[in-house]
Amino acid sequence: MSVLPLVIMTHPLPPDWITSLNGRVRLIVGPAEQAGIAPHLKENLEEAEGILCLLFDNVDSEMLANSPRLRVVSKMGIGVDDIDIAGCTARKIPVGITPDVWLTDAKADLTMALLLSAARRVPEAAADAKDGKWHLWTPAGWLGSDIRGATLGIIGMGKIGRAVADRAKGFGLNIIYTDVEKKPNVEFEFVSLAKLLKSSDFISIHTPLNSSTRDLINEKSFKSMKKSAILINAARGQTVNMDALTKALREQWIAGAGLDVTDPEPLPTDHPLFDLPNCLITPHIGSATRNTRKRMAEMACENLLAGLNGKKLPYCANIEIYE
Ligand code: DGY
Repeated sequence: MSVLPLVIMTHPLPPDWITSLNGRVRLIVGPAEQAGIAPHLKENLEEAEGILCLLFDNVDSEMLANSPRLRVVSKMGIGVDDIDIAGCTARKIPVGITPDVWLTDAKADLTMALLLSAARRVPEAAADAKDGKWHLWTPAGWLGSDIRGATLGIIGMGKIGRAVADRAKGFGLNIIYTDVEKKPNVEFEFVSLAKLLKSSDFISIHTPLNSSTRDLINEKSFKSMKKSAILINAARGQTVNMDALTKALREQWIAGAGLDVTDPEPLPTDHPLFDLPNCLITPHIGSATRNTRKRMAEMACENLLAGLNGKKLPYCANIEIYE
């Protein structure tokens, strides 16, 4: 009888999301709360043929070197900034990701939720209501920003940027965007990053994290934005310099921020950003809808099983290995 391939799943997932693995792999599961492969599981890398990982698990060169039998890395997520893609590609190890419709819509919806909440100061107003600060109807209380007619600058017009633009259009926002280059079939105005920062009322980031997007938004960027600008980031925390953001919000160079991602994650509860009423922070919940997260787990299992069976991954981040 052949032995089932050993797979390390870095953290537990609900059993009904991963039923396709039943009877097909030997699964070793890491603890819920600790990023990366837990130290006590590292000895299993020697035998592991597959890794099913989540965000921030850091599949780095050391882990690859310790995994001589590895045949597939399957990530439940889309960003691969925490995976040594070049190292995997060099060994022809496919890296699976979980993109497309569910995740795109969920992230775009959350982006709009952050934008609208930050613009209309929803968390602040809700906290004040609860704290007994709601007296009479206050004509000049909790005033926020207007949405219709305002300009939304989208940094990164990929699938998610596009889905945000489509939603924002419905709210009457004018859309401009920047990217590495002008995108074919995108009807919105393509502008330089400098122009986008200067002329947007809302700025939303949708770029992957790489060496050219790390710290993309820094002190100089904040200084060039409108004082009324609101920054939204549901992509990667490291695209924004956190010290510069703290300063910009504290000294009111800009009006507010809505963040679903930070640097680091989780953001320590004593971080100064948590004390600023003009900063709304959610714990990286962009893809957190029931169907999206379940579908992401199922896609991660599909990728994993394909890799273990020597088949092309349905959703692969390094397709060049098949060329
Ligand atoms: C990812 O994997 O990039 C997402 O941020 C998960 O929601």
